[in-house]
Amino acid sequence: MKVDVVTSSWHEIRAVASAEAIGTMLFHRLFVLDPVMLSYFRFSSTFDVNALSIDFSTPNKELFENVGFLEYARIVVWAIDMLVKDLGDLGKCAEILTDLGARHKEYGVTILNYDTLGVALVGSLRAELKGKFGEREEESWMWLSGVIKAIMTKTE
Ligand code: HEM
Repeated sequence: MKVDVVTSSWHEIRAVASAEAIGTMLFHRLFVLDPVMLSYFRFSSTFDVNALSIDFSTPNKELFENVGFLEYARIVVWAIDMLVKDLGDLGKCAEILTDLGARHKEYGVTILNYDTLGVALVGSLRAELKGKFGEREEESWMWLSGVIKAIMTKTE
């Protein structure tokens, strides 16, 4: 049930927004919620954290023109595409997420960062899908965020 809700809302947003658009929206939101996360990224050396716009709805020109940020935005959404595609096979998802989690530990990503990611993910989907993103969708995406967090931080 939750898998179906997540899958259909993901298809809904992917039909109207590019990987780059979704990824930038998601990570801009994440950086506003916790700017420390910006410092984990190699591209942050070319971006001034003080220039970060705190308004989710206003694109941050300097950030949104950063090639490294745009590249990550696409990569992370492609990774979510794969995850959603394989949601029916949690064993396969666990395999992908375990490896990804081990690498993220090396990038400096902590267990608390995954809670913030859940908040940013739900906030971004709601902002984009508006009336189509209700309680059922929020509950299902929070469930998926919990799964991502549990598996990616297994080695903490
Ligand atoms: C908790 C929030 C997260 C943070 C702060 C974060 C941060 C990072 C960082 C710092 C890198 C390395 C980029 C660089 O070298 O500059 C990275 C790479 C990557 N991230 Fe994330 N990440 C998060 C969540 C996720 C999630 C949930 C997924 C997928 C479901 C994901 C997928 C990827 C992929 C595919 C890469 C490319 C490199 C690799 O495969 O290791 N990330 N991430």
